[in-house]
Amino acid sequence: NRPIGIVAAMPGEITALINAMRTSRAVESHTVGRREFYSGELFGRRCVVVLAGVGKVAAAITATTLIRTFDIGSLVFVGVAGGLAHGVSVGDIVVAQTLLQHDLDASPLFPRYEVPLLGVSRFETHPDLASALMRAAEQHLEQVGIGRVYRGLIVSGDQFISDAEDVRALRDALPDALAVEMEGAAIAQACNAYDLPFAVVRTISDSADGDAGRDFPRFLEERASAYSLGVIERFLEG
Ligand code: ADE
Repeated sequence: NRPIGIVAAMPGEITALINAMRTSRAVESHTVGRREFYSGELFGRRCVVVLAGVGKVAAAITATTLIRTFDIGSLVFVGVAGGLAHGVSVGDIVVAQTLLQHDLDASPLFPRYEVPLLGVSRFETHPDLASALMRAAEQHLEQVGIGRVYRGLIVSGDQFISDAEDVRALRDALPDALAVEMEGAAIAQACNAYDLPFAVVRTISDSADGDAGRDFPRFLEERASAYSLGVIERFLEG
């Protein structure tokens, strides 16, 4: 009965969850690796909640600390992403089936996207965790009144995508990619190294095009925390 790690990249994606945890008794906070880990009960379940910071390295550091120092039994990454596939729009929710690092390319030594020596390019999420997140996301969107839930490939890289040309290039190279973000596939690789069950859920904040630089901060300020809180609350209570 180990705790569930709940991770996000930016304060707007997780502050509401940390505040919800603070209202419970017996929450403890520990600083490790310049990150503040909050351990305690969240919606009746033992959790460790942490702000990872942005990008693949920050995500991998955080996941490894959760696994090695806090002995979590599973990990859920929550936050926002840019929509890639046609029809995936702002306010929709994407649950990862698989994750890939779109900026990883050691060709011609190894196939493009493959993690060298590991021989994997697409990391699989845990099916039960992903299904539980799908149900939680559907329930949350029912309450919001608008938006669709998708399950499929999420791609990650150390780039904020904000150009329609870049979106076209990603779609051409990875036609089944639903959304793009900056942490999920790194979380996946860290959890793979420790055989830890994990899942990723992302609300679409922007379309990764020329408007993304304006849409992303607006969504983060106004809407992201309600989606994170709503989905994680239903996930933990379900
Ligand atoms: N997260 C949210 N929107 C994003 C984008 N356009 N590119 C990368 N990560 C994102």
